[in-house]
Amino acid sequence: MVIFKNVKDIQQFISDKKALGSKAGFIPTMGALHAGHISLVEKARHDGMFTVCSIFLNPTQFNNKSDFEKYPVSVEGDIELLLKAGCDVLFLPPVSEIYPDGVDHTETFDFGYLDAILEGARRPGHFKGVGQVVARLLDIVRPDFLYLGQKDYQQCMVINKLVAIRGMKDVTVKVCPTVREADGLAMSSRNRRLTESQRAIAGTIYQCLVSIESKQATTPFAIVRKECEDILVAKGFVPEYVALADARDLILLENFETGRPMVALIAAWTGEIRLIDNVVLE
Ligand code: PAF
Repeated sequence: MVIFKNVKDIQQFISDKKALGSKAGFIPTMGALHAGHISLVEKARHDGMFTVCSIFLNPTQFNNKSDFEKYPVSVEGDIELLLKAGCDVLFLPPVSEIYPDGVDHTETFDFGYLDAILEGARRPGHFKGVGQVVARLLDIVRPDFLYLGQKDYQQCMVINKLVAIRGMKDVTVKVCPTVREADGLAMSSRNRRLTESQRAIAGTIYQCLVSIESKQATTPFAIVRKECEDILVAKGFVPEYVALADARDLILLENFETGRPMVALIAAWTGEIRLIDNVVLE
């Protein structure tokens, strides 16, 4: 695996590879890698891609200062995992390479409705930061395929919209399944910050999502939502939302609708850790 820290060098390397006929599969991350990230590298390799992973803890997407300061960092361990997974290139830039004119002088994007609901409403400025950094990373890496995890469902939609706004027709976004722990907890870098007792209850979020899915044909969503909120509270969570939405555009729904593709989404706090997860209803 070749590691690059500056833009010029990685661009040269990737364009040489592409000239030889390789297709680039890109996995952007903020580090603290886990099996979910590695599954994206493996998927890209399985698709025959030349794999490029980035680790950049993007300061502009944190609406909460302490979340940024306490975000787990483990670059050496990350490099080992990527080496094992057979990743070809790691991009590990400093802030000055991503924001050469400063964080306030980058292109920003209007994600409209997507920025006004759920994560957008609860984390003001978050998607603005995601848009800034992903646009910049895509300009640098110029991948053929961009691999994202379904765990961040709304982020996947925002990035799809970003790609469309910028008319990047040569970039295909591939959303890959959420990787889960044995109790269903969605893998996330923030899970490392859970205490033993928080970790012990963390699988409840997924269990709630599964119960929403299993009751869709028999119980009104308002009742299932209340049941989930009560279960989460009883376990010690502070739920932020238990929501149902159209899986294609994230239009929020009051009730299940037969024949409509739907996604159930939950965000909840345990102590100072905020967990999110979702399940596309089958
Ligand atoms: O999901 C993440 O890890 C980040 O939001 C991303 C897409 C790498 C942008 O910083």
